[in-house]
Amino acid sequence: MIGDDDAAYKGGSYLFVQKYIHNLSAWKALSTEQQEKVIGRYKSNDVEMSDDVKPANAHIALANVGDDFKIVRDNMPFGNISTNEMGTYFIAYASTFSTVEKMLNNMFIGSPAGNYDRILDFSTPKTGSLFFVPTFNMLDELSSE
Ligand code: HEM
Repeated sequence: MIGDDDAAYKGGSYLFVQKYIHNLSAWKALSTEQQEKVIGRYKSNDVEMSDDVKPANAHIALANVGDDFKIVRDNMPFGNISTNEMGTYFIAYASTFSTVEKMLNNMFIGSPAGNYDRILDFSTPKTGSLFFVPTFNMLDELSSE
């Protein structure tokens, strides 16, 4: 949520969405251990791998851009049996798009460059948009102008 540093828009959020399609046959061809290494967490208990075990290209290794840069994630899995399209709507709210941009750069360009997110070998973004989410007060003010 936007704070005092951008007073005119305080209380609003930047909402970023991307529609990802998964290659589930490639994903299912991985062993559980390999799948865990793609994400960086264990499936059975959701516990994060220690830094010496977690691969540098694991999703959470690259998506974590530091404690000062947080977003609210609200992902929505979906499936369309008629077109056999299975995927995830990545949905994130942040006080500034620059935090999400840092994450996207790390995932797609890599950190260091070339060490891109392993999740992208199984999942492809098809569309995406950035929205501004106003507060009720901002909407009231607009409608009374
Ligand atoms: C195919 C699309 C995606 C899938 C399936 C996915 C899935 C996951 C999973 C399973 C986790 C670990 C569990 C959790 O913390 O919730 C995670 C963590 C995370 N993801 Fe994603 N994600 C996707 C795309 C993205 C994108 C595009 C971003 C940012 C632009 C992102 C940012 C994050 C962050 C910040 C974390 C937490 C990292 C930490 O532990 O600090 N994800 N994601």
